[in-house]
Amino acid sequence: MDDRAGVSWPSEGLTQIPYRLYTDADQYALEQERIFKGPVWHYLCLANEIPENGSFFASGIGETPILVTRDETGTINAMVNRCAHRGALLCMERRGKAKLLSCVYHNWSYDLKGNLRSVAFKNGVKGQGGMSPGFEMEAHGLRKLRVAEFSGLIFGTFSDETPPIEEYFGAEISRCIKRVLGRPLRVIGRNTQVLHSNWKIYMENVKDSYHASILHLFFTTFRLNRLTTKGGIIMAPSGAHHVSYSMMDATIDNADYKDQKLRADKEGGLSLADPSLIEGVDENGDGITLQILAAFPTFIVQQIQNAIAVRQVLPRGVDQCELVWTYLGYIGDDAEMTARRVKQGNLVGPAGYISLEDGAVVGLVQRAIQGVEEDCEIMMMGGTGVETQPFRTTETAIRGFWKKYRELMEP
Ligand code: FES
Ligand SMILES: [Fe+2]
Repeated sequence: MDDRAGVSWPSEGLTQIPYRLYTDADQYALEQERIFKGPVWHYLCLANEIPENGSFFASGIGETPILVTRDETGTINAMVNRCAHRGALLCMERRGKAKLLSCVYHNWSYDLKGNLRSVAFKNGVKGQGGMSPGFEMEAHGLRKLRVAEFSGLIFGTFSDETPPIEEYFGAEISRCIKRVLGRPLRVIGRNTQVLHSNWKIYMENVKDSYHASILHLFFTTFRLNRLTTKGGIIMAPSGAHHVSYSMMDATIDNADYKDQKLRADKEGGLSLADPSLIEGVDENGDGITLQILAAFPTFIVQQIQNAIAVRQVLPRGVDQCELVWTYLGYIGDDAEMTARRVKQGNLVGPAGYISLEDGAVVGLVQRAIQGVEEDCEIMMMGGTGVETQPFRTTETAIRGFWKKYRELMEP
């Protein structure tokens, strides 16, 4: 571990977060080492995105391109998608099938475990040129990662110190992942959007149960999610991961909202021409209509009514990131359920009735904090600690993120 210090914090607490954490290029570089290559599991893809022996899928961890494969023996592998010769991006397709992966630059070829199998003109031409005698094929494979499969998801880590995956999540978070994804899954849609913010501003947004019914007019107007309905936050003991859940209740008393004079709470008797957009089927029998789960650092599982998705955040520089959405159903869904999931998928994504405001607001934060040297954001809603709470007017989940962040970044 090097001794670079990173951005300094005003206190040991978790209620004042320096704005420079989102704008400082050195901090960003340090995160790539200490978080993205640190003792952390990173979501890579769904197991069924590499369905057969020979399948590959291009993903990423932080800024590093990663290739996930299922080799000819059925074993799942993950490796850096970068040729060991001179560093070219090896695989340029999103997914497919192959026996060998060949680099376009000088045609070095690798098997699906990442071992180097052939080097073009290795012995030169007509006895001239070729690789030096000291060159050994075995020493120049792709950089390999540890992998773990959990509830139909594949994760990777660069570190030997990352604990086993169920231990990493803890019992409650594992249970909540399985609640949504614990059946054979089917991909029903995808999209990717560019967010004009540091990756952490988006992760804070995901963990921010306070904002949802204030920023999102659609949530509040159609009573899909209000702070007054039953719900809460479940925290992993480490603080690293959280679940926010709620139970839609159209009959709930509205007085608390009227008092706040919210932009999102308009009178006017608006109703949906197609109410099925928000009408769900209780697939788990627990009445939970919304569950948002974020696993440190950049993985999200979403259930909003019957719209199920996983999201992956890929940093793309200090003030930009990519948000990759994969929309899911279950194998065995009938046509009606698939149509419902697709329709309710309109709530989220880059232009979703709810999510489009998140994409915008993270950019508003990034714009307004440029050049700020000393100031901090403040995080005191719902106390100052990190704990499970039976309500959502809290920032406990965001404080939990920062607890884990500081642990990794300030060793
Ligand atoms: S960079 Fe890939 S073969 Fe040369
Ligand atoms: Fe939001």
